[in-house]
Amino acid sequence: MTMHGAVMQAIPRLTLNNGSAVPVLGQGTWNMGESAAQASAEIRALQHGIDLGMTLIDTAEMYADGGAEKVVGKAIAGRRDAVYLVSKVLPHNASRQGTLRACEASLRRLAVEQIDLYLLHWRGTHPLSATVEALETLVAQGKIGAWGVSNLDHEDIQELLALEHGARVQVNQVLYNLSRRGIEFDLLPACARDGIAVMAYSPIEQGRLLKDPALNAVARRHGATAAQVALAWTLRQPGVIAIPKASTLAHVAQNRACLELTLSTTDLQELDTAFQPPRRAQRLEML
Ligand SMILES: NC(=O)c1ccc[n+]([C@@H]2O[C@H](COP(=O)([O-])OP(=O)(O)OC[C@H]3O[C@@H](n4cnc5c(N)ncnc54)[C@H](OP(=O)(O)O)[C@@H]3O)[C@@H](O)[C@H]2O)c1
Repeated sequence: MTMHGAVMQAIPRLTLNNGSAVPVLGQGTWNMGESAAQASAEIRALQHGIDLGMTLIDTAEMYADGGAEKVVGKAIAGRRDAVYLVSKVLPHNASRQGTLRACEASLRRLAVEQIDLYLLHWRGTHPLSATVEALETLVAQGKIGAWGVSNLDHEDIQELLALEHGARVQVNQVLYNLSRRGIEFDLLPACARDGIAVMAYSPIEQGRLLKDPALNAVARRHGATAAQVALAWTLRQPGVIAIPKASTLAHVAQNRACLELTLSTTDLQELDTAFQPPRRAQRLEML
């Protein structure tokens, strides 16, 4: 492994249905922007991640009530074109008009003219058809480059795909990590069939996975950390993008180096024993 600054391989890219090639390892921002005292460290962490090639940045109007988008705006100032920017509209804003207003507000906070990928954060009471219409309007206006969804289960995705323009969905961002494998049963293969990329959120279960003995045993064999094994595990298959959130430079660098790690068949078997794959359909979990 080259964990301490040696030259690393470029981050592999995944090509979305619309032709955009995005890095499979990006950066999350939930809990950023909550405190003014932390903001400059968060900005530095995001910038370090961009320097290391983790140029896909995931945020949302929900995070810190817009505060995370402001942090992202500052982190990408002057290098907007190097970044693939993802943000999300809250379900209660996701009406035909509300989506347009929410996007305008996000653009202002991010201080950019376009969001590359705009997601419905989860499904609420507004009809999916109204949200899709609004998202298509935003694409036509150039305010977003493309759109996707988040926290949509198998049946919701089928319903979406049946709508006019519904097949223009690029991504489904869902909870996926070793301790949350439910999507492997049906959602992950269904998304793969339709070319919808799966963006794995909370890939280290917000830190709760880090003390797991099986994960640590694999990590020790590789001279790696538990976080790196958890990330390498989510990225072991094609069609998946992981977006860990890290607010220290050391965590950012460590996460980037997960791509130097190749898990062996033995590693994967041990992890399957500790974190069993699903044997039946399960409702999609969310955090
Ligand atoms: N669509 C949705 O509904 C949804 C839901 C949840 C999350 N998300 C997105 O997914 C992103 C990631 O998920 P998440 O933030 O929930 O959880 P996560 O990425 O699984 O975990 C983040 C936590 O792990 C710590 N961490 C990161 N790298 C580490 C490392 N190498 N070693 C030890 N600890 C490490 C971070 O600490 P530090 O901050 O101190 O570095 C933070 O406390 C979010 O930030 C957000 O952008 C989306």
